[in-house]
Amino acid sequence: MKYIIFNWKSYLNLKETLSLSKIISNLPKSKKYKILSSPNNFFHLTIRKLFPKNITATQNIDLHGLGANTGSLDVSYLTESKIKYSILGHSEVRANFNDNDLIVKDKLKHCLSNNIVPIVCIGETKDIYKSKKTREFLKLQIHKIFSMSTQYQEVILAYEPLWSIGTGLTPKIDEIDEICSYLSMILKNYSFKKINILYGGSVNLTNISDILNLRNVNGVLVGSASTKSEFIKYFK
Ligand code: 13P
Repeated sequence: MKYIIFNWKSYLNLKETLSLSKIISNLPKSKKYKILSSPNNFFHLTIRKLFPKNITATQNIDLHGLGANTGSLDVSYLTESKIKYSILGHSEVRANFNDNDLIVKDKLKHCLSNNIVPIVCIGETKDIYKSKKTREFLKLQIHKIFSMSTQYQEVILAYEPLWSIGTGLTPKIDEIDEICSYLSMILKNYSFKKINILYGGSVNLTNISDILNLRNVNGVLVGSASTKSEFIKYFK
């Protein structure tokens, strides 16, 4: 079973979001795929109401808590709305809202203590990739986010090379598999009840089947391609 996560970012308006959500709700039940969508945070409640079987993930949470915190998204709102997943540390959140690995570490803890499955994004820049320091970088990133002395519940780790997001560029197919295999080796030093490693970055209809066939890749996190109905219908 592979995870298919649609990250709709802020691409879609309400009508478009509901139209894709309807297609998802009509997909036949599958043993091959577990499908999640991550609509703009503004649309969760409408989706939950109209398509209660669709599984959704928020695109972020924050740590300010309930109370006098204008603009916050507290985890308790997810729990209340029966949302069980949240993306954390996406590169766009890191860039736009100054999230870093330390903040992601705290958000991860906060999600897990509230029974939210975190989808933690990591990935290297083009310069790091070019200088062949990807493995070293990812190992350090994991070290900063996870602690070896913690027993984690379910976690999803998404390997999203920054240079691949929204560019149409991806590592070579074999390379994706090798890096995910490396990540899974590194993660053996940590303790998880369940851990899945996904790939994200310029996944589209042309490369999806090759990526899903990779042994060490447990699914995909897809951005712009997932805003097209043809892409979603691939999972019929
Ligand atoms: P693209 O699929 O548009 O490259 O975006 C990937 C991504 O950011 C998923 O979280």
